[in-house]
Amino acid sequence: MSTSADLLAQPLRIGSRTLRNRMVMTPHLGRLGAGRLPAYLSRRAEAGVAMAILPAGMGVMNMPVYPPDIVAGLEGARGDQDGVPYHPRDERYETKLLAGLGDVFAGFANTVQRHGAVAIGQIHHPGAERSWDSFSPALAPSALRGDEFGTVPHALSGTEIGNLIEGYVGNAGSIAANGFDGVELHAGHGYLLNRFISPYYNRRTDEWAAGSTLLVRLLERVRERIGSTPLLGLRLQVSEEIEGGLTPEMSARIACDIAPYLDYLSVSIGNHNGLRNGRPSTPYTSPWLTAHGPAVDGARAIRTALAEAGLERPLLVTGRITTAAFAREILEQGDADLIGAARAYIADPDFAAKAVSGRGEEIALCIGCNECVRVPLSCPVNPDAGREGFHAGSAPESPKRIVVVGAGPAGATAAAKAAERGHEVILLDREDAVGGTLRRLVASPMLEEWSALVGQLERDVRATGVDFRPGTEANEETLAELAPDKVIWAVGAEPLTAPFPVDAPVLTTSDLLVGRRPTCPWSSWVVPRRIWSRSSPRSCWPVRAGACGCSPSVTRTVRTSSLVR
Ligand SMILES: Cc1cc2nc3c(=O)[nH]c(=O)nc-3n(C[C@H](O)[C@H](O)[C@H](O)COP(=O)(O)O)c2cc1C
Ligand code: SF4
Repeated sequence: MSTSADLLAQPLRIGSRTLRNRMVMTPHLGRLGAGRLPAYLSRRAEAGVAMAILPAGMGVMNMPVYPPDIVAGLEGARGDQDGVPYHPRDERYETKLLAGLGDVFAGFANTVQRHGAVAIGQIHHPGAERSWDSFSPALAPSALRGDEFGTVPHALSGTEIGNLIEGYVGNAGSIAANGFDGVELHAGHGYLLNRFISPYYNRRTDEWAAGSTLLVRLLERVRERIGSTPLLGLRLQVSEEIEGGLTPEMSARIACDIAPYLDYLSVSIGNHNGLRNGRPSTPYTSPWLTAHGPAVDGARAIRTALAEAGLERPLLVTGRITTAAFAREILEQGDADLIGAARAYIADPDFAAKAVSGRGEEIALCIGCNECVRVPLSCPVNPDAGREGFHAGSAPESPKRIVVVGAGPAGATAAAKAAERGHEVILLDREDAVGGTLRRLVASPMLEEWSALVGQLERDVRATGVDFRPGTEANEETLAELAPDKVIWAVGAEPLTAPFPVDAPVLTTSDLLVGRRPTCPWSSWVVPRRIWSRSSPRSCWPVRAGACGCSPSVTRTVRTSSLVR
């Protein structure tokens, strides 16, 4: 329910711009590509997002963040007039790239702005979190191993830090000059600037020792370059959750140091894989088993410190805020001014519109499965995510009779989509309800949150007029009797098992999710590789299992070893 004074719907002035409401879409689109990004952005901006923050630069010349298809399409960005490719470290590469990107940037910004939203370009450098196969150097203040890929980064020299600052300044200038309303620097998620402020990851004793020095220098220089009108924001890590790392109190002090340069401050928590030096912490895309709003406590601490110092700035908080009710509660308690979200907009492009207009119960809930973190972007709750407009068009000239076998997520969605387009659809399942294996899995307390998806499938099948026939076995006779034009076979997947004899209890991901335990504690297991982590029990043998939508949270569960006790 919204009230007449619903804070979510209230405009907010930040710097030179006015946001039409409190709903902000935080960056998550670096991998979508030029072909799909505009339609994705347009759909969300049109549906009421007040501010969209887009990945727009890496801060150093040899690490463009732009999707390869954008770069490849830019005249001259890939090679000289003879077609000889530039080496990515050749400064002509960056010069051409930035020149060519003007139109691309302007296009992205315009896509968002023409629907009334503010467009911000974010500059982020992953720092130590680069895999060796990217062929780009991992960089950090100190040579402490990256948490995601284990890469040992190059510790930057003083001169290199000077160049880095100029790289950020150049990126910021280009973003502001090409139509964005503002620039955001990313100092969270364990990336380069986060490491500089961290007493754990930054072991330097020179002028770039842990603290706010680099951020202050960067913000001063960026402000000089972009002038006073474009917005300047910064994304700050609220806590590193590791002994000797950043605490909310330290982040609050840093926030006070940098606030004078900022139009807004964005706070979030976590790093790439939820491990810090091998110990559990929060992944920045915190999955379904973790608490909602993990950064809210940190936001409150920072807000209090800023208020006490007389340095209040509009505060944006992000992380597992998936319902309108929770978003409203955060604003009403005064913990933040703006609600950031990424995955909620993947799962439901109308997240902002529904939240601000009192239709919160209609939001298609993000279940935190993290399927969207893969490339290409996909989402079981919203199969149209990243494919906006692909299925648009008029009804088929000659509607077909389609039989879908299997009412799990794939079958039920295919059935609903086909019916929506105007086909006659019959959905068969030998079980007596929609949901397939997922329906059984959500009975486990570990997967309770996913029952939202089962509910949504049921609603979609009903709302689109699909003829659902539960308790029906599909065989030759049934199919012959139904005389379909097309059959969609969606009977589910089987877990992979080891293709060789194994003299040990074997657990699949599904076993783990329904809480099956090995017969003897600390025995050898065979588990899919994706749910193995460096801190799994030593007797746990990883076996590659390909894509596994449940991996991140199960990693956490396996890591804490709760299942083997
Ligand atoms: C696929 C994906 C890519 C992301 N890329 C970025 C990024 O480039 N910069 C950034 O600051 N955050 C990035 N994020 C983090 C989100 O902005 C957000 O902080 C995080 O997903 C937690 O919010 P949520 O629970 O609303 O998804 C990304 C998230 C996802 C899912
Ligand atoms: S894939 Fe999963 S985590 Fe990502 S938006 Fe969809 S439901 Fe949420």
